[in-house]
Amino acid sequence: MHIPDIIIAIDGYSSTGKSTFAKLIASEFGFLYLDSGALYRGVTLYAMEHGIIKDDNSIDLGKLKPALTDLDIRFRSSDKGSLTYIGDRCVEKEIRTLAVSDKVSPIAAVPEVREYVDRKLREFGKKKRIVMDGRDIGTTVFPEAELKIFMTASPEVRAERRLKELLAKGENVSYEDVLHNLAERDRIDSSRETSPLAKADDALILDNSDMTLDDQIKWVKAVLSDRFGNHAEKPMKFGKS
Ligand code: DC
Repeated sequence: MHIPDIIIAIDGYSSTGKSTFAKLIASEFGFLYLDSGALYRGVTLYAMEHGIIKDDNSIDLGKLKPALTDLDIRFRSSDKGSLTYIGDRCVEKEIRTLAVSDKVSPIAAVPEVREYVDRKLREFGKKKRIVMDGRDIGTTVFPEAELKIFMTASPEVRAERRLKELLAKGENVSYEDVLHNLAERDRIDSSRETSPLAKADDALILDNSDMTLDDQIKWVKAVLSDRFGNHAEKPMKFGKS
């Protein structure tokens, strides 16, 4: 199936499998995958290492705002996929720790941080043929995206998935820690003033609590075929065909 030059925006709650899903779509259709959360995580790591965010999550805005002018966060591709760098330092591992996850939502609520990240994301969007995942891609970054998907799953399923990932990386965390971190991030991400996590009116909801990755790919292929395929197959409703 040939897909025209479009932007696919994937938003949703933490640990709903957005990035795995987005990466698969990108490789299936030859699109570029972009992880907007990695940029927020990069800013957060920088803020932690420079004493800009404290243990109580208070933020030294006087230091953070000017630092953004020179902060060089970029993606570089490798045989392991896209990796996040601050300058020449690869920070891909550090930005995925629970320590960074615990601080990222307050940092992502700072309007100047959002402007910094949005500017970078929109640069990538100019060429189209991208799949971007995040919290506000369909509502704020690319409201004109041709396909918007909003992902959700039950908190317990999400916490189990996240716990598995962190344990596999050697982090010593409990199910309760992870569940608490997810609930806290959902709360802050959904209630912040600037670009809160929200479903765009024209986004399709994908609740993958009981879906395998294969089910999800079948679902998106049916949606794409319905909207953009030359020989549109009948749109498939998950579980009914
Ligand atoms: O997708 P993620 O879990 O790696 O994102 C980390 C955090 O970054 C998330 O808790 C909220 C924030 N974020 C955001 O506010 N807007 C985005 N578009 C992407 C992420």
